[in-house]
Amino acid sequence: MTTLPKPRQPELKTSLPGPKTAAIMERDSQHLSTSYMRPYPFVPDHGEGVWLTDVDGNTMLDFFAGIAVSTTGHAHPHVVKAVQEQITKFTHVCLTDYPQEITTSLAERMVKHVEKPGEKWRVFFGNSGAEAVEAAVKLARNHTGRSHIISTIGSFHGRTYGAITLTGSKTKYKRGFGPLLPNVSHVPYPNPFRPPLGATAETCGQAVIDHIEGLFQTIIPADEVAAIIIEPMQGEGGYIVPPADFLPKLRALCDRHGIMLIFDEVQAGMGRSGKMYSFQHFDGVQPDIITVAKGIASGMPISAMLAKESVMTWPVGSHGSTYGGNPVAAAAAHATLDLLEGVVKHPGCGDSLMHNAAQVGEFIMTELKAMQAEFPFLGDVRGAGMFIGLEFVKPDGSPDGKLRDAASMAMFERGLLNLDCGEAVIRISPPLILTREEAATGLEIMRDALRALK
Ligand SMILES: Cc1ncc(COP(=O)(O)O)c(C=O)c1O
Repeated sequence: MTTLPKPRQPELKTSLPGPKTAAIMERDSQHLSTSYMRPYPFVPDHGEGVWLTDVDGNTMLDFFAGIAVSTTGHAHPHVVKAVQEQITKFTHVCLTDYPQEITTSLAERMVKHVEKPGEKWRVFFGNSGAEAVEAAVKLARNHTGRSHIISTIGSFHGRTYGAITLTGSKTKYKRGFGPLLPNVSHVPYPNPFRPPLGATAETCGQAVIDHIEGLFQTIIPADEVAAIIIEPMQGEGGYIVPPADFLPKLRALCDRHGIMLIFDEVQAGMGRSGKMYSFQHFDGVQPDIITVAKGIASGMPISAMLAKESVMTWPVGSHGSTYGGNPVAAAAAHATLDLLEGVVKHPGCGDSLMHNAAQVGEFIMTELKAMQAEFPFLGDVRGAGMFIGLEFVKPDGSPDGKLRDAASMAMFERGLLNLDCGEAVIRISPPLILTREEAATGLEIMRDALRALK
């Protein structure tokens, strides 16, 4: 009988944190912004695929991909080559003033994933998710001549002034920063696990629609609303998937009132959910504007705001960015798309990284659901593809943030990099090159960590 080689495991050579990590953490605490969070002591030195090695030589399995960014893993040879080739040609000219083939072809490529027959879309490139969101809101206001924006509770849209105003997940993002943008309102997000507005998992989508229509009768004139911005699957708020009927109904509501529908795909987009965009899981829904960042270029800073041609009506010079659409980042985006679409295959990941995300993600979700029997504090397992949320609950069903924090630390101590979100959720957002075997390794570490909590 042949024995299969044991799959690669995390390798911890020092206790955590190791001495070099501790020293850098200390210097970091002296000289960097006091706003930075440090959920656990980890200082990367280098990465390869789904593995990251810290400065002390401890190698960990990456289940968070730098907050859903490192789509192709770390130092993917195809991405590295594309970056190296472009950097020797030119690193900057300024897209706001001069066209560059690499961004023209990137835009052509990106719109193909959203255009329906008879539609034409255009792309504005920025550097970060927040910038894409700012661009989306500016465009919606400019196009409609209206000012009000509706966002959702639990949402995250970034840290710039417009984006934090829209954000509805944590008050710490806003405290002490006001005044914020005027004319922004928040409505509940239809979370089937914790349905708002006294509704059920099945009725919460309709309840939110009724709530918005109610606001239009009482507080916000609908004809002053420029846009509704929403994450089709909510990220920072807890990796939440709305009920199937909600987004089609929201689209219909926007159509009734001439409101732009903006889908913020910064976290769930670019193949993470198993489709290019997470809204594509909801039959036939088409937004007017889409924001994309994070997973677009495997960690190189670039973002995009895509809009229907009929909506992108702002005049020449009205919006721009010095660095936005940087050619080196655009080269990384092309290489990332090659792998996502399957133009270039990654060994062990089937047709394309997008399909791999769907298949391996489903495996992870099935396994986690099976774990709920052993760990009753795993109240909910939800998501799509490799966008998976694991919610920790107390015996009475309320969120258990403390237990989540303890679980997160126990996983880290066993060599699994992970990240929290929401009130009591661990997000599982690994690089999309994660194989089934690597997923099984991560799940085994999770099981071991959760057993230690009992
Ligand atoms: C849905 C969503 N929108 C916008 C942003 C902001 O992106 P950035 O941090 O690149 O500005 C984030 C970041 O987490 C996000 O998750």
